[in-house]
Amino acid sequence: MNIREDFPILQRSSRGKPLVYLDNGATTQKPHQVIHAIEQYYCNHNANVHRAAHELAEEATALLEGCRNKAQAFLGAKHREEIIFTRGTTEGINLVAQVISERIKPGQDIVISQLEHHSNIVPWQLLAQRTRCQHKGDRHYGCRRS
Ligand SMILES: Cc1ncc(COP(=O)(O)O)c(C=O)c1O
Repeated sequence: MNIREDFPILQRSSRGKPLVYLDNGATTQKPHQVIHAIEQYYCNHNANVHRAAHELAEEATALLEGCRNKAQAFLGAKHREEIIFTRGTTEGINLVAQVISERIKPGQDIVISQLEHHSNIVPWQLLAQRTRCQHKGDRHYGCRRS
């Protein structure tokens, strides 16, 4: 089995060499199966989810919720509500930081590694500001809020 064959874009070259793509944090390449599913969706079911009573919206909603169930099973999540879809990495991390901000306790630290992308730095800096954490070092904040 050659997984590369599932990805049409990996059949092209880049600067004269076989394409190798590692920027998945920003955008993932799509295999044929995903491209086909997206095409099927837009050709047959596309509608607003959870916000209309017509047939297409019912289908689109069922597909979205079915996807949530599949993601839950795949990830081993206890509750289907744990599966939250966001538009991207930054929005997802902002959401996590927002939820965590309610649970920050004095004596806890926020530590961010040196290797993080901007999208995984700013949400934690903002959380440190919001919760009045003390700057303890490079990318290290100590929390004081009770
Ligand atoms: C490595 C990496 N992580 C995270 C992100 C942020 O992703 P998003 O645009 O989905 O918020 C990017 C965006 O370029 C990225 O390159």
